[in-house]
Amino acid sequence: MRLRDCFNFHDFRELARRRVPGPIFNYIDGGADDEVTLRRNTTGFEQCDLVPSILRGVETVDISVSVMGQKLAMPFYCSPTALQRLFHHQGERAVAAAAAKFGTMFGVSSLGTVSMEELRKKYETPQVYQFYFHKDRGLNRDMLQRAKQAGVDVMMLTVDSITGGNRERDLRTGFAIPFKLTPGGMLQFAIGRYFTEMLDPSMKWDDVAEMVRAWNGQFCLKGIMSVSDAKRAAEIGCTGIILSNHGGRQLDGSRAAFDQLAEIVDAVGDRIDVMMDGGIQRGSHVLKALSLGAKAVGVGRFYLFALAAAGQAGVERALGLMKAEIERDMKLMGCSTIKQLTRSNLRFR
Ligand SMILES: Cc1cc2nc3c(=O)[nH]c(=O)nc-3n(C[C@H](O)[C@H](O)[C@H](O)COP(=O)(O)O)c2cc1C
Repeated sequence: MRLRDCFNFHDFRELARRRVPGPIFNYIDGGADDEVTLRRNTTGFEQCDLVPSILRGVETVDISVSVMGQKLAMPFYCSPTALQRLFHHQGERAVAAAAAKFGTMFGVSSLGTVSMEELRKKYETPQVYQFYFHKDRGLNRDMLQRAKQAGVDVMMLTVDSITGGNRERDLRTGFAIPFKLTPGGMLQFAIGRYFTEMLDPSMKWDDVAEMVRAWNGQFCLKGIMSVSDAKRAAEIGCTGIILSNHGGRQLDGSRAAFDQLAEIVDAVGDRIDVMMDGGIQRGSHVLKALSLGAKAVGVGRFYLFALAAAGQAGVERALGLMKAEIERDMKLMGCSTIKQLTRSNLRFR
């Protein structure tokens, strides 16, 4: 199996499975507890059908969107993910280069393995910095300042990881009691400690409001799920929220973002940019989320498996396939702009 044999998410996943060590594949692939939420993230899309319109003149389609002050050539972006150089030596550089090539946004994780400054200098495309709130308030202030100086376009605070999720696959692959010195073991050890020792579980809305003020720019919260939290985010001056359950890696049994999307859009969609991520594997999934009112969607594993399988060439192929699917599906839906996608072209079973 080669990269040219990959035509969809499942193919990239399979190629990654063959090419990277088992513990690393399972770190990317896995979720929390019984992985119920992980599965629902994708199956949720299957409970909803697209209703196409015909004969509307779709020789050209424009799939660009504006979100959080950024113009994206496509309605999906690369969501921030940790430790990308562990999956492929090109790591974040490959993802940033591919995102720039396709004119979309990419996120750099707090647990990134290439500096945000280097990425900002080299790749001209909207860049997000994903922030975890540390116990050390001085460190938080310094990181915010660093991101500002680097020229990061959007600050994204992840709020669904107040403690680490129970990822049993990692425990199984990484820890044979007491501690096994394998890539998986080290990974589990490093990340487990980061969440329990470095991050601040006492974080509250006032802390976030202070961060929003200090950043004084595009600021979004990643991991919002309830209407009241969405309203609160708007009240403290956030410009965006991302409905997310962290790819099913945190609270298993929690709701899928797609299932919760309409409720949130109805409550705050006129005040704040609503995005979502989780489970997106197809262009049709993107169209369904946009039809419900998302301004853009994030993908995680969709580009990560491609990265693990084949580095920058893999990520470029994945983004290119997704773009082509979106354009094709737009034409088949009878839509030439993203604005034409509305709830009237959706039916839930
Ligand atoms: C391997 C991996 C690492 C991740 N690391 C982070 C991270 O460091 N910070 C963060 O906010 N989200 C992280 N996420 C979550 C993603 O940003 C995103 O919310 C999720 O992957 C979306 O689901 P999907 O993988 O089904 O597309 C990670 C996800 C994966 C799969």
